[in-house]
Amino acid sequence: MSSKHIADIRTEYRLAELDEKQTGSDPLLFFSRWFTEAEQAHVREVNAMTLATVDVHNQPHARIVLLKALDKSGFVFFSNYDSDKGHQLEAKSAAALVFFWPELERQVRIEGWVEKVSEAESDEYFQSRPEGSRIGAWASPQSRPISNRSEIEANYSKYAKQYGNNIPRPPFWGGFRVLPQRIEFWQGRSSRMHDRICFTLSNNGWNKVRLAP
Ligand SMILES: Cc1cc2nc3c(=O)[nH]c(=O)nc-3n(C[C@H](O)[C@H](O)[C@H](O)COP(=O)(O)O)c2cc1C
Repeated sequence: MSSKHIADIRTEYRLAELDEKQTGSDPLLFFSRWFTEAEQAHVREVNAMTLATVDVHNQPHARIVLLKALDKSGFVFFSNYDSDKGHQLEAKSAAALVFFWPELERQVRIEGWVEKVSEAESDEYFQSRPEGSRIGAWASPQSRPISNRSEIEANYSKYAKQYGNNIPRPPFWGGFRVLPQRIEFWQGRSSRMHDRICFTLSNNGWNKVRLAP
């Protein structure tokens, strides 16, 4: 595959437009609307989002996680608190999220601060997970080097035997909530003349501006 081939890959976006009136005054409400539309459009892995964090050397790191809850205060995902992302968020609570819903030619960017969700919220979600995932959380020292796959498979068998079907939440596993300070909605348009409506949180609430594409 040549670079020329890659350079020639492009899409013209023609599906929709976005204006200041549609987005209203509450970006979380508008996000819910776009999320529902993405579900209705059968976007695959609609709740998958890129999570960017920063380490103590200011090196950014990005990976996909799944949005598991959304409320007035923010966007919740679950992970291993002892993972690389967990340590990065412990040291620096700034984070960014990106959703890309190609079927709707839409992107949403969220930036803000991260806090851990309550133990009760983590327990409730953990117990709603399939049994295999609950055991998997115990079995995997996420982000740590392992000698081979058998190591975590042996862990898996050990914890499956130990806990049976009464699997507690590991103390090192739980939720994070991204408290948004900035939310930008992007709708692809033709000739790269895209629509971008951006909300920023101030003491007086959300301010809205249109950004050049
Ligand atoms: C579609 C998809 C969904 C994922 N969802 C999660 C998730 O919700 N939580 C999680 O910890 N990792 C999830 N992962 C794995 C992460 O991308 C990543 O590999 C892992 O969390 C380790 O990241 P870290 O070493 O930067 O901490 C998902 C990966 C993909 C591709």
